Amino acid sequence: MDDLRQKYLEAVASVTDEAALEDVRLAAVGKKGEIALKMRELGKMTPEERQVAGPALNALKDEINSALAAKKEALADAALDARLSEEWLDVTLPARGRPQGTIHPVSQVTEEVVAIFADMGFAVAEGPQIENDFYNFDALNIPPHHPARQEFDTFYMHRDEGDNRPPHVLRTHTSPVQIRAMEKTGAPIRVIAPGRVYRSDYDQTHTPMFHQIEGLAIGKDISMANLKWVLEEFFSAFFEIDGIKTRFRASHFPFTEPSAEVDIQCSWVDGQLRIGEGDGWMEVLGSGMVHPKVLEAAGVDPEAWQGFAFGMGIDRIAMLKYGIPDLRAFFESDLRWLRHYGFSALDMPTLAGGLSR
Ligand code: DAH
Repeated sequence: MDDLRQKYLEAVASVTDEAALEDVRLAAVGKKGEIALKMRELGKMTPEERQVAGPALNALKDEINSALAAKKEALADAALDARLSEEWLDVTLPARGRPQGTIHPVSQVTEEVVAIFADMGFAVAEGPQIENDFYNFDALNIPPHHPARQEFDTFYMHRDEGDNRPPHVLRTHTSPVQIRAMEKTGAPIRVIAPGRVYRSDYDQTHTPMFHQIEGLAIGKDISMANLKWVLEEFFSAFFEIDGIKTRFRASHFPFTEPSAEVDIQCSWVDGQLRIGEGDGWMEVLGSGMVHPKVLEAAGVDPEAWQGFAFGMGIDRIAMLKYGIPDLRAFFESDLRWLRHYGFSALDMPTLAGGLSR
């Protein structure tokens, strides 16, 4: 019995995997194992012998069984430890960077301009990019054979042969939105209209598609003085420089009378442009008092109402504010350019929080 105990306890101690442990179990306490064989021998013993050998064999069987169970648990623990030490995850690694898009300078500057004019009580108006003759030209006092039509390098839409109606155009300016806005709400009105416009032109400062913002304010006694105040207020806020001066130069547009081109104060120092200082001037927009014929075309009585309008290039003021030299790059979608000149999505321009980064 002592030999059996020693043999199997040693065997249990020395196995290193569950399959070998099972072999030991079968050989020791299985149905045909050594302990079972010994149990069968009990029948041939005298009752006195059996009284000693029986309990001793049962005790040995229990002892081996508990050694087997303990070993089984130890093997399972070791296997789990091995897996845990192999399959680990370092949660302290820094997260992988996520590539992010940027807000295009045109979008950013449009938001800036809208925020400033909204603060002065201007609503945003919109119109279609494919316009008809009436809104893009006639209603703005540019009749069919007016020379101003030639100045615009207009893109005309195709008409079927035999269809003699005037062709639609890609709008050459945002001024047609003046007409649409007045038709919709009448006077008084105060709106700005940012959007895409199109002209057949291409060089460092011209692209066939670009952006303008139109302004329109009609009331009972709105004058050029109001126009000048609004524009100076706008440029001071936009360039974040107090008291920017403007210069009004007499000009001509069919849709305004009188008309003025507006310059802002600037200087050139070592080839660098500085806005709002010095005695140089930079042209930034066209403007004037809305022509009576334009009010009439939009259904507003020119005897009762008057006001100003202006049109400004968004891309152009974006170039001035952010020092971007070439307009063509705006629309080439070069990722290096977009990353360099683009804005973070969280940089929403507000008057209180600042307009630029
Ligand atoms: N529509 C003109 C252009 O694109 C700009 C302009 C000039 C708009 C004078 C106006 C204005 O509203 O009054 O060249």
